[in-house]
Amino acid sequence: MNCVILGSGKGSNAEAILKAWNQQFLGNTKIKAILSDKPDAQILKVADSFGIPARHINMDQDSAYISSEESKTLFEIINEYSPNLIVLAGFMKILPVNFIYKFKGQIINIHPSLLPSFKGLNAIKRAFDHGVKITGCTVHMVTEKIDDGKIIAQAPVRVMETDSLESVTQKIQAAEHVLLPTVIAKISQEYSHHTE
Ligand code: GAR
Repeated sequence: MNCVILGSGKGSNAEAILKAWNQQFLGNTKIKAILSDKPDAQILKVADSFGIPARHINMDQDSAYISSEESKTLFEIINEYSPNLIVLAGFMKILPVNFIYKFKGQIINIHPSLLPSFKGLNAIKRAFDHGVKITGCTVHMVTEKIDDGKIIAQAPVRVMETDSLESVTQKIQAAEHVLLPTVIAKISQEYSHHTE
């Protein structure tokens, strides 16, 4: 199963995936490339350190949206890797609807809340400020509606009296680093059954 990872940030989830992959935990998954809209994103260095092709895709840094020209380039580059699975691991751009349709059912995202609560940006802070006592992370299918596709897996995280935004963030990210590789391993297993 060919897998491409997209991200914009520090790449701790990508690193967790690559570590799991190195430990043969992801079945027959092949991590083909890591792509980023940010030229200096740490996630590209993570890819390098694992010997995975790391590509920056030029995109307008002032917009959350991807233009049709940028979308065409993204599609062409992604297609080079014939992906069966596209993993959004901290990818902060909104994918165009036609791109999502081209890879229908093949794109998953990790979001740092228990969806459907706290969709969108700054989810950890908004949940924390709201006083939630249980939060967590969600892996879901990507559809044309933001953070709205079918939930594949979730991990809960308790918020204690002594927690700060920083400590909750750390707990959620630690949970993500287990959840996302586990989901990929399961999808890879299902993929192998289908193609046997
Ligand atoms: C992760 O916590 C992920 O859930 C979040 O960005 C972080 C990326 O961290 N994604 C979103 O907020 C998407 N709306 P990473 O670059 O260290 O993996």
